Amino acid sequence: MILRFLVATLLAVPALAADGPPLQPTFHKDIEPILQSRCQGCHRPGEVAPMSLLTYEATRPWAKAIRAAVLTGKMPPWTPDPQYGKFSNDLSLAPADKEKLIAWIDAGAPEGKASDAPRAKVFAEGWQIPQPDVVFEMPEPFEVPATGAIDYQYIRVPTHFTEDKWVQMAEVRPSNRAVVHHAIVVVESAEFKGAQNDKSEEYLGGYGPGMLAQIWKPGQARLVRAGSTLTFQMHYATNGKPAQDRTKIGLVFATAPVTEKIIAMQSMPPGLLIPPGAANFRVNGIATVRQDAKLMALRPHAHLRGKSFQMRAVYPNGESEILLDIPKFDFNWQPYYYLETPKVLPRGTRIESTAYYDNSANNPFNPDPAALVLWGPQTWDEMMIGWFDIAVDVPAEDATR
Ligand code: HEC
Repeated sequence: MILRFLVATLLAVPALAADGPPLQPTFHKDIEPILQSRCQGCHRPGEVAPMSLLTYEATRPWAKAIRAAVLTGKMPPWTPDPQYGKFSNDLSLAPADKEKLIAWIDAGAPEGKASDAPRAKVFAEGWQIPQPDVVFEMPEPFEVPATGAIDYQYIRVPTHFTEDKWVQMAEVRPSNRAVVHHAIVVVESAEFKGAQNDKSEEYLGGYGPGMLAQIWKPGQARLVRAGSTLTFQMHYATNGKPAQDRTKIGLVFATAPVTEKIIAMQSMPPGLLIPPGAANFRVNGIATVRQDAKLMALRPHAHLRGKSFQMRAVYPNGESEILLDIPKFDFNWQPYYYLETPKVLPRGTRIESTAYYDNSANNPFNPDPAALVLWGPQTWDEMMIGWFDIAVDVPAEDATR
């Protein structure tokens, strides 16, 4: 008798919240707000995820899969170690929300009362930035076959700008998200002086799972010089049906006077050569910031053999700190990470990156463990770029623009 009573009590405990009342989450009251803030951005018709999580009817059949995906941390996709850095676009679930989701599913995923539902979230159709001042589009649609791997496409689009332009917002929009894995638009300018690393290209905008439009605050902007050409770097993925895509980028010019220039820099190695079969191959990248600056955002980039990626600041006084650490790099999720609070980088700060690569047969994504892997644009090549955006006082030669 006593034993039975004890067992019953113990079993009852997990159902009680710490302060007494039983924890009985329902869909409309407890779960819908979580889905709105953390899942529906991708899980709605026309977006990157395969199923919608907009309604109870749509979500209910996925309850078991949601439980597994949330417990393993696969969803929402957010790979940085939370110890380092705070990012304004953090998608990760708060522990309490994770518990609520699990408790709800374990209780049979009850719907609850429709009157408890939050107001449906309104998602912007079309541009997420205000109406662009100019839109550049691929000159013609790209034909995506039904199957097979497609080489990265590099499509050049001249701006025909006759004067330098300050760009405060940029958004890249595929016409067919079902086949665009990701897209990056870089600026090539004839007379390139922006970043201090002799690169002839600078990041302008991108699209990919989890990537948002770039919106800088008034007074901050990127400079796109007269006569520049945009290159659309397109990564298409086949999905069983032939398709077409014609990606475009929309730009909003600064209207307020620009006091801070946003510059894209790259912490990268002088070269890269990964031996066949190497299971844990280290590559280091570096970039030196040659003026007082503020760090705004980070974006590690590698391909299918990328295993982990870390970015650090090494300050002129010798101190260093980890800015972003991705212990398990996932090729599919390469968003920009926007710092919640921009970080001061005194002149002479080095941004160092370390990535590890797995070129062994144990890496399920490895296209060819027997290959000697070199730097290159295709997914079977490799790259190691720690992109980062800094804000600097507008240099005198740009001030009149
Ligand atoms: C940044 C976009 C994005 C966000 C945010 C996101 N998902 Fe996903 N989700 C995807 C994509 C893309 C897939 C399909 C590809 C895959 O399985 O990796 C997916 C797949 C899934 C699956 C199927 C998993 C499987 O193993 O097949 C579940 C379940 C899921 N998501 C639940 C969620 C839940 C719950 C949330 C919010 C807590 C969420 N997702 C947030 C993009 C997203």
